[in-house]
Amino acid sequence: MTSKLFTPIQLGGVTLPNRIVVSPMCQYSADDGCMSDWHLMHLGSLACSGAGLLMIEATGVTREGRISHGCTGLYSDHNEAAMKRVIDACRSVTRAPIGVQLAHAGRKASASAPWQGGKALAAHESPWQTVAPSALAFGEGWHVPHELTEAELRTLRDALVAAAERARRLGLEVAELHSAHGYLMHQFLSPLSNQRKDRYGGSLENRMRFPLEAARALREAWPKERALGARISASDWMDGGFGPQDAVAYARELKAIGFDYVCVSSGALVPQAKIKVGPGYQVPFAATVKKAVSIAVRAVGMIAEPEQAETIVASGQADMVALARGFLDDPRWVWHAAERLGAKVAYPPQYARSQPELWPGAKLARPQGAAAHAA
Ligand SMILES: Cc1cc2nc3c(=O)[nH]c(=O)nc-3n(C[C@H](O)[C@H](O)[C@H](O)COP(=O)(O)O)c2cc1C
Repeated sequence: MTSKLFTPIQLGGVTLPNRIVVSPMCQYSADDGCMSDWHLMHLGSLACSGAGLLMIEATGVTREGRISHGCTGLYSDHNEAAMKRVIDACRSVTRAPIGVQLAHAGRKASASAPWQGGKALAAHESPWQTVAPSALAFGEGWHVPHELTEAELRTLRDALVAAAERARRLGLEVAELHSAHGYLMHQFLSPLSNQRKDRYGGSLENRMRFPLEAARALREAWPKERALGARISASDWMDGGFGPQDAVAYARELKAIGFDYVCVSSGALVPQAKIKVGPGYQVPFAATVKKAVSIAVRAVGMIAEPEQAETIVASGQADMVALARGFLDDPRWVWHAAERLGAKVAYPPQYARSQPELWPGAKLARPQGAAAHAA
């Protein structure tokens, strides 16, 4: 049996050598948006993972758009130079495409890192004024954001384009507009966070207006021979929130604008949502979008086993899978998946001796996944 997971996929003008993606993961380890040695180690290690695409974490398109003081940005020349250092190092160990997630945290900005509580910054922690479609706080104890004016929306759209321009100069192959996880674009899309009375609020068409204006500007700025995508949300897990059919409508518009893929996620718009988390729990959302819209779809969320990933792609529920915690737990997940699914991946020559056929003891030494644990 040949593995579908290990076949290439074309996104715009970019070919991923396989359908496994390192999901974007905030590291809260930057200094005024500048990547650090931590990023060099973290992304450097994942660059030689064999994944078909390495996505860089949510990267603030403005200083105020960062989630925390430690989030990466692409709003200054310093940020660009710091990211260049990390990307150059990654390029020296992989030919796989690298992408960046362009983000603005909106009302969820000005927060501490998860290991410092993940809460709104206190007065002594240099908080800043957050912005959002409406002056509604994320939850109790969170900053009340400033409601963005139309002129400020134009400035934000320009900042997004300027960040994309920096990403283009850095030679990144993929740009991804973050429209999920309760951040700014998602705040516009959901009726729970967008209660504007102007043409940017109300109907779904109006709530999509700013994200789609931003998407159009991004499409114009980002080269056609690279790939452009978005991470979207398919459920707020709340009555009256953004849902799967809204996600279909949004994906359809993105496709019409010329986006090459969507990654379908959910949640994090409001803290009180009750999410039914389990293996592959967001895959049905991805399948719903894929069935309705002819755009490449990436599934994400609690995908941990190679056979599970293979089934998602081979059954046509999604075209690609992204893993986050799976890669933190096992940066060599792709190698082990290839071994289990009978596929071949290229190892960096320095690590070639760890290939199973050159290390006959490997099968005995390595646990064989959940089945082995259960046995
Ligand atoms: C440490 C960490 C940081 C994350 N940062 C981001 C991020 O920058 N952008 C994003 O869209 N999702 C982010 N996520 C969510 C993941 O990309 C992914 O969607 C989620 O963890 C579910 O996938 P998993 O079950 O494979 O971990 C983060 C997750 C983790 C664990």
